Amino acid sequence: MKNNVILPKDKFFNDIEKSHYALTFGDVKLKTGHSEVPPNEVSLESKFSRNISLKIPIVSAAMDRVTEHKMAIEMAKLGGLGVIHRNLTPREQAHEVAKVKFYLNGLIEKPICVNKNQKMQEVINLIEDKKYGFHTFPVLKRNGKLRGMLTKTDFEFCNDYSKTVGEVMTKNLKTAPKGTGIDEAYELMKKNKKKALPLIDDDGNIAGLYVYSDLKRIKSPLADKYNIDEKGQLRVAAAIGVGDDAFNRLEKILRKNVDVVVIDTAHADSRSVIETLKEIKNKCSIDVVVGNISEPESAKRLVDAGADGIKVGQGPGSICTTRVIAGIGCPQVTAVYNCSKVIYGSGIPVCADGGLRYSGDITIAIGAGAHSVMMGSMLAGIDESPGEIVFFNGRQWKEYRGMGSLAAMESSKGSRERYSQTDAEKLVPEGIEGRIPYKGPLKEVIYQYIGGLRSGMGYVGAANINELIEKADFSIHSSEGQKESHPHDVIITKEASNYSINNEEFKKWKEK
Ligand code: XMP
Repeated sequence: MKNNVILPKDKFFNDIEKSHYALTFGDVKLKTGHSEVPPNEVSLESKFSRNISLKIPIVSAAMDRVTEHKMAIEMAKLGGLGVIHRNLTPREQAHEVAKVKFYLNGLIEKPICVNKNQKMQEVINLIEDKKYGFHTFPVLKRNGKLRGMLTKTDFEFCNDYSKTVGEVMTKNLKTAPKGTGIDEAYELMKKNKKKALPLIDDDGNIAGLYVYSDLKRIKSPLADKYNIDEKGQLRVAAAIGVGDDAFNRLEKILRKNVDVVVIDTAHADSRSVIETLKEIKNKCSIDVVVGNISEPESAKRLVDAGADGIKVGQGPGSICTTRVIAGIGCPQVTAVYNCSKVIYGSGIPVCADGGLRYSGDITIAIGAGAHSVMMGSMLAGIDESPGEIVFFNGRQWKEYRGMGSLAAMESSKGSRERYSQTDAEKLVPEGIEGRIPYKGPLKEVIYQYIGGLRSGMGYVGAANINELIEKADFSIHSSEGQKESHPHDVIITKEASNYSINNEEFKKWKEK
């Protein structure tokens, strides 16, 4: 580890430490520096864990009102990563992972096939039972040779499910030989107007399948920005607990090729977490990110135990009450700095989890030493977050709640485990339930967050994430300084897309 390297911000944080203060986002801002790089040219590439990279340093929280497959797909398409929450059964969670991984399929090596003599109802039952998210099946004869295809159109126009697959299927096929590549397959499908292209070997056996909608996504000009694995599939993470929960989930999500798992607990510097971490690292070759912690000794212990990434944040979250209920924790900017500093140079990235309210907080978290940020409230209330839009006081909202809220703990074992209350007679919540203004589609929201980060990097003079970590220096803002930073002495007549007057703190200042 290079933790004896002196960085510009060290003096600032050391002086604060001497006076036993700890700081958070509103307290500090980054100092500007000479810049040689315009904001639109900075690189936002970073890492979530030892082997899992990010094209933008934003990760969506493992929360039941934030990340299921829709959010994770869109996050990965925008270059970030989604962590599928664990208030789902292991089987449900594995399905969520599979939906993300199968969103971008190149060659489907072993397509699920059906038989010509099966009834359509049997196929419908199979789709429901296995929760398949697709409707394209090669149809085989008894001898295993390809006979036709069942496509989405065949399902749509089938009005009698007692018919056999052979009666409903598409018989006029275009096939290609085993070994046909993505580019050639795409051209063939366009030329022949075919939505599925089965590959067959020399004996006429099915040897793979291309689906047009998959290839169209892969060929999209936006695909360069996607966060994908080496097979060209979107990356996705999943939250797990400790002990049996971890291994029950791992068994199922590893089969769906999850890229990285997050041991998701309220207190990661504990024996059960460290034992689970070591056991996973002994048995599997998957990256394991561990959280949450807020003290440097904890970061060191977890890295020594084999963690591939560290998640920092105990109680900063918008819906968290841990600090006031339990009387513990450390304001987030100091926590991020202390934890990153002690493992600096180890190659293990830090994710700053919770407490962010504005895009500028991303720049501050990374400046303090994080390689990525995890967001809950800033990504709740979005089209892709689970839950319905509700109308209240003339505005659109979505529900957002803590994983330690009473409702989340009552409805899910995952939440009770996160707060070590599996066997509790009565629950002691460490979070609240609330609502959040509806914000529209994720891509618009991320555009603003990334725009703010780019701008901040331009002001600091950092060409990439590592330079931001290395060059960052801070100053403390007094309450007058903080007031000056927000709009003041005017009546806001129109909210900006990246600044809301709904912010409670601002409202209080406005009232003063
Ligand atoms: P934000 O501020 O982004 O925070 O909404 C999201 C993070 O908060 C954590 N989390 C909780 N912490 N009680 C807590 O003390 C809770 O009920 C709770 N639910 C979520 C979690 O780390 C998340 O990423």
